[in-house]
Amino acid sequence: GTERPTIGEGVEVVVVSNRQPYRHSWGDNGIEVDRPTGGLTAGLDTVVRRIEGSWIAWGDGDADAEAVDEHDRVSVPPDAEDGYPLRRVWLTEDQVDGYYYGFSNRVLWPICHGALTRVHSESEYWEAYEAVNERFADAVGERVGRGDVVWLQDYHFGLLPQMLRSRVPEDVLVTHFWHIPWPGWDTFRACPHGSEVLRGLLGNDLFVVHTERYRQNFLDCVEAAIPDAVVDRAAGRVFHEDGVTTVEAYPLGVDTERILELATDGDADERWRRIRSRYGIGEGVRVGVGVDRLDYTKGIPQRIDAVERLLERHPECRGTFTLVQIGSESRSRIPAYRELQTAVVEGVNRVNARFRTDDWRPIVYTTDRLSDRELYTLYRNADVGVVSPIRDGMNLVAQEYVAAQADGNGVLVLSRQAGAHDLIGEDAVSITPQDTDEFAGALHAALTMPEERRRERMGALVETCRSFDTEVWIEDVLGSVARLREEGHGG
Ligand code: G6P
Repeated sequence: GTERPTIGEGVEVVVVSNRQPYRHSWGDNGIEVDRPTGGLTAGLDTVVRRIEGSWIAWGDGDADAEAVDEHDRVSVPPDAEDGYPLRRVWLTEDQVDGYYYGFSNRVLWPICHGALTRVHSESEYWEAYEAVNERFADAVGERVGRGDVVWLQDYHFGLLPQMLRSRVPEDVLVTHFWHIPWPGWDTFRACPHGSEVLRGLLGNDLFVVHTERYRQNFLDCVEAAIPDAVVDRAAGRVFHEDGVTTVEAYPLGVDTERILELATDGDADERWRRIRSRYGIGEGVRVGVGVDRLDYTKGIPQRIDAVERLLERHPECRGTFTLVQIGSESRSRIPAYRELQTAVVEGVNRVNARFRTDDWRPIVYTTDRLSDRELYTLYRNADVGVVSPIRDGMNLVAQEYVAAQADGNGVLVLSRQAGAHDLIGEDAVSITPQDTDEFAGALHAALTMPEERRRERMGALVETCRSFDTEVWIEDVLGSVARLREEGHGG
């Protein structure tokens, strides 16, 4: 269906995220626009167009900031009718260091992913996080009017919901989607300023996470850390001094129709031939695919170890199987990210040096960015999709692989630690990424599974992914918003 979900006549939805959906710069023909990488912004872009909303984000990477800010209506291609206003918040270098590289990505990110050994906290991080949340609160305050809806994204804005309360009209409904895991209390209690973050989030009328497990974890944390809050488990509601926060679990999906279309349209077979030849993949070689931001949560070194073990244990896979690993650079100012980048390159070199022949490599590793069309063509034709995070809120790559396969017979190898596993794990081959023998065994099982069995499982995966695709997610979130508005929440 393409009907536009409505929340009410004249109601504007203001989306707030750290990452902006488009970057602007001056080119030969005036202002030029390009899109940063990342599933979150691409998915939400479709949503904001459909609901005729507007968007506020950090103006990272925009050249000549002030001048470009004049151009606050976004449309790609340039005069498309469904463009929307995009308001950028400009941050100083120090603010970026403290808020983005500091508290967001060296405290909250590792805490929520259970990576306690990676947590590093400085008081400047927290101060900048507070200050930047204030900046965004001001920007939202200027934008919204009576009865509007504010839709916050992710862990960069833990304090913003509460800060908004004094800046927006009482009947404005504030909702927040948390894209990363919400950990159990025993982990979250290690978070510096953890109860302040929880109190900040209780400024929301509606707080949404991906899975039921994260929802229970969040309620556990509130119960343990906020003495004056009363948690109604059955209703998923928290009653506290400033009002009521409803907590829901709606898994974020992908745009299954668009992915399938791009994977198959035009000269798709020719595209696949070109991709194979670019990566030097000979005829008869079967392909595994991994696509990740270069993050320590993604389990890429573990994946490389598993390929190595597979080739040790199953010599028949030498010369007949190649893993194509695509990595995109991320958060490189943080030491743990640079270390990970080095570890990946070293791992790939080690395994390739050990097994490669004149015309075959076990792992093709690239940081080149593929177009969506190429990426989905790769997914469609890869025999195995390899998704092995140590921990991941959802993981959209797993779903994109499935969506591109549609009537295909590829096999998804999926970590039990990805949120996606709660939803589609049953029809994947499940692994624990650190268990190298199990992981190698799973790759082998995927490569030797009879075709009929593969088709059956992929068919079931496709059906499940369609049942919670982007459209369903929007309807769920906005449906809850509409219900809460009817009940008189907001403010
Ligand atoms: C994760 C987060 C997003 C973030 C993305 C890319 O998916 O949940 O909020 O945008 O990673 O990371 P970056 O730090 O480059 O925005």
